Amino acid sequence: MKKRLVSGIQPSGVMHIGNYFGAIKQFVDLQNEHDASIFIADLHALTTVHDKDILSKNILNIAMDYLACGLDPEKVTLFKQSDIPEVTELTWYFNCLTPMPFLERATSYKDAHMKAKDVTVGLFDYPILMASDILIQDAEIVPVGQDQKQHIEYARDTAQKFNNTFGEIFKLPEPMLLGGVAIVPGTDGRKMPKSYGNTIPLFGTDAEIKKAVMSIVTDSKTPEESKNPDECNIFALHKLFLNTDELTALRARYTEGGLGYKESKDMLYAEIIAFFGPLREKRTTYENDPELVKDILRKGAEKARAVVEVKMKTVRAKVGVTL
Ligand code: ADP
Ligand code: TRP
Repeated sequence: MKKRLVSGIQPSGVMHIGNYFGAIKQFVDLQNEHDASIFIADLHALTTVHDKDILSKNILNIAMDYLACGLDPEKVTLFKQSDIPEVTELTWYFNCLTPMPFLERATSYKDAHMKAKDVTVGLFDYPILMASDILIQDAEIVPVGQDQKQHIEYARDTAQKFNNTFGEIFKLPEPMLLGGVAIVPGTDGRKMPKSYGNTIPLFGTDAEIKKAVMSIVTDSKTPEESKNPDECNIFALHKLFLNTDELTALRARYTEGGLGYKESKDMLYAEIIAFFGPLREKRTTYENDPELVKDILRKGAEKARAVVEVKMKTVRAKVGVTL
């Protein structure tokens, strides 16, 4: 029996190579050995995106990104979260069992609160919506980045709370911390998230990728000077694309001197284009046929709903709304 795997990504911006090496690549690798369900967390994105054109564009783009990167709709149930209204229904049942102070401890809430942002009820409830995504599908493993680990603990606690109150229904999911690449640094050396403006876009145009690579921050050593590869933001990104021998050779060129940062950037640009070239080509076939992509999402949602409907029948009966 294959284990049931569930994960999602918010369509809150443009995918970058950090998302690829940190998350998507692993989803693609895991799809063969698992009963996998991967979705686009558009309801979660609504906690931050309040522009309908941007949100719908992001959703379609992420679907194309997933497909181009190799998620195979024959193997994975691929859908968008908002097509499964039962998820929000379950969120309500969970809300009615969740003490406020429990959610006040969530990092996502604390971060927003500390930054004195207006925290919406939706953002406050983010972990419970995520618990519903996971529990409604009987997920056994949830592959996520380190930053999401606390949310899996919320899902486990919520399952236990429900089971203690209404009877054993929900499985306790396990996090699977994605170890592919710990943190892909951005062009300024900080982490690369969608929102810092330091990303290398996964499916940008040649010009966009070039611009991002050329903007990588370095010190001001001349080409002749010896350089420390371990302190270089460009070198950190070469590690994603080069094999051990190639890295050793490049390391030597850094320390010997004679390699300018411009040349290193040109090399990195070429590596990125070569690596993602086939994926970008595949993506254009989806770009030219958005109806095909929407159809894949529709079929995925039908498949996912058939599973969650069975679960929700039991849940409704347990909480007492079924007559
Ligand atoms: P972002 O930080 O870009 O907004 P999300 O929070 O939606 O991305 O995360 C989507 C997935 O991509 C998560 O599994 C996250 O751990 C992973 N991820 C995001 N940024 C990076 C990065 N710079 N390096 C490695 N993995 C990353
Ligand atoms: N919160 C996750 C993120 O920001 C996205 C997400 C929503 C998710 N629901 C999920 C991940 C359920 C795994 C399982 O990356």
